[in-house]
Amino acid sequence: MALLPILRYPDPRLHTKAKPVAVVDDRIRQLAADMAETMYEAPGIGLAATQVNVHEQLIVIDASEDKSKLLTLINPEILAREGECEGEEGCLSVPGIYETVKRSRKVRVRALGLDGRPFELDAEDILAVCVQHEMDHLQGKVFVEYLSMLKQNRIKAKLAKKARITA
Ligand code: NI
Repeated sequence: MALLPILRYPDPRLHTKAKPVAVVDDRIRQLAADMAETMYEAPGIGLAATQVNVHEQLIVIDASEDKSKLLTLINPEILAREGECEGEEGCLSVPGIYETVKRSRKVRVRALGLDGRPFELDAEDILAVCVQHEMDHLQGKVFVEYLSMLKQNRIKAKLAKKARITA
């Protein structure tokens, strides 16, 4: 297994639209394992392949308290949505920034698992938010893009300053 470098906003590669995974093979299973390791190490509750510069539809999520419920979703699609919720979100590609985003409170998702078989998942609250956040990454969308331009520019300035200090 290996830790993968995570792209940082505003890296333009974060705006790449991911293609569906054609075959769930050992390459994909290795990528999923490396992404899970990278997510736990960060630490974060979700990671999309886009964030590690692989533009295929694959996400890993573990929104459980004790980090015991790893979910891998390949080629995920939202089948149904219900309700609305607003919560503070963060992102491993936008370190240190937390902002409120409006999302569906419940989603039903269909995806392929690591065995290549389709399954459906009913997610609500934190898990539903996380699924929507990660699926946005696959479409090339970062959560800060739901905010006003003014806020987005402030975030870019803040991250640029932070990058200079760390470098
Ligand atoms: Ni994110």
